[in-house]
Amino acid sequence: MTHAPQRSLQVVAHRGASEDAPEHTLAAYRKAIEDGADALECDVRLTADGHLVCVHDRRVNRTSNGRGAVSALELADLAALDFGSWKTREAWRGRDEEPDWEHRPEDREETSVLTLERLLELVSDAGRRVELAIETKHPTRWAGQVEERLLTLLKRFGLDAPASAAESPVRIMSFSARSLHRVRAAAPTLPTVYLVQFLTPRLRDGRLPAGVRIAGPSIRIVRSNPAYVERLKRAGHQVHVWTVNDPEDVDLCVDLGIDAIITNRPRAVLRRLGRV
Ligand code: G3P
Ligand code: CA
Repeated sequence: MTHAPQRSLQVVAHRGASEDAPEHTLAAYRKAIEDGADALECDVRLTADGHLVCVHDRRVNRTSNGRGAVSALELADLAALDFGSWKTREAWRGRDEEPDWEHRPEDREETSVLTLERLLELVSDAGRRVELAIETKHPTRWAGQVEERLLTLLKRFGLDAPASAAESPVRIMSFSARSLHRVRAAAPTLPTVYLVQFLTPRLRDGRLPAGVRIAGPSIRIVRSNPAYVERLKRAGHQVHVWTVNDPEDVDLCVDLGIDAIITNRPRAVLRRLGRV
């Protein structure tokens, strides 16, 4: 089997270059762009005062020096927190080499809470095409507000109504079919990705929620069930896999003709693919 460079296989930086720099911060996304990632993945949540911020967990406890649910905090509360110093401790754990990112408290903006708006500005100013895969987190709680605010923001950047899905530099991902349905109803040409963590009998057949053309299974599903990928491909769907950090899994994705690899280590994956 060969693992030749495959331009059509997109490398997506999961929460930024999150192995090296603190996830979901400007520092992590800048590093991913420098590393050559084709696209950036981010999770979005609504603050108590209605701002979309890039945070994975329901609470800020793991990734900041604060406590509490994102939905109970206002943007100003989040802006007072440090989302960087936890990573310095974590980045050193179990590593032989010094990480090439170091938390410097004076770089406040680099490790502050990141709004989706700021991330969109970063991507707009990247100087090359960098795509964005935005995941709506726990959208059911907000009964459509996450999608509404998201589309309003994308509209401001001229990104809500691409001529076709293929041309869109932005796609919306979710584990919630309802969330994707809301996005498609308001923005029919915006591509959507249905994230799959468990294979139900219906999904096993390669079917996706109505109108969704991209499946996002975990690497665990792909490893244990490569035939599922083949069924998706036969049904004409794209397949974007998360979270692929091991070289053997990169090779497996190449062999299966996966369309996008979502990884915490974009540089290492690009190296494995022979692109750097
Ligand atoms: O890219 C999809 C992947 O991010 C889904 O899992 O928990 O990392 O958001 P999670
Ligand atoms: Ca995610």
